[in-house]
Amino acid sequence: MKITHLGHSGFIVETASARIAIDPFLTDNPLATMKAADVKCDFLILTHGHEDHSSDAEEIAKANDATLIANHEIAAYFAARGVAKTHGMNPGGGFEFPFGRVKMTVAHHSSSINAGPDMLYMGVACGVVVEAEGLRVYHAGDTALFSDMKLIARGGIDLALLPIGDNFTMGPDDALDALEFLKPRVTVPAHYNTWPPIAQDAEKFAGDAAASGHEVKILAPGESFELV
Ligand code: NI
Ligand code: MN
Repeated sequence: MKITHLGHSGFIVETASARIAIDPFLTDNPLATMKAADVKCDFLILTHGHEDHSSDAEEIAKANDATLIANHEIAAYFAARGVAKTHGMNPGGGFEFPFGRVKMTVAHHSSSINAGPDMLYMGVACGVVVEAEGLRVYHAGDTALFSDMKLIARGGIDLALLPIGDNFTMGPDDALDALEFLKPRVTVPAHYNTWPPIAQDAEKFAGDAAASGHEVKILAPGESFELV
């Protein structure tokens, strides 16, 4: 399984049969190394409505004829905007897609989309567990630390994609506690350094995690690694 960090919370999970983009955010991302038009995917998962996760979703889903997977409200919103294939879910629910299973998890965060002067509320924020090729990848979305991460860890987590930016999500200290709950084999930090309010020292986070026995792999925007 190939994992590519797009920057911010965006990742591409590539299996032998499918490319799955999660929260791709490129057009308004000052650290992005590629354009939304360059994203190739068969499925597009959105954890919640905020622009730093969803603002490129319509373009990418339409250009790739990709299936957009998100909570019910977000799926319905993009279906109404002409995205042909959408699949609505809600926390606690899982579904078998052709590439593997996607389970939505709870996240402690908000979810909205700014539509002109109006703020549309977009259901609850979620995380997601993608299970394919015998590997389980947990993308936490934007979230605070919560002890029920222990429930998400049942069955084991091979890769955790965790926010460490602070301000909008948990920061590095809470993310270290998340590692204790999740016990992932590998963790890639996300949702930091994109803007000054979420500037963080990922190397320090990786060192602190290593001191407690957790492997953290830092991926710069555009970097990939093979999860085996
Ligand atoms: Ni958010
Ligand atoms: Mn965010």
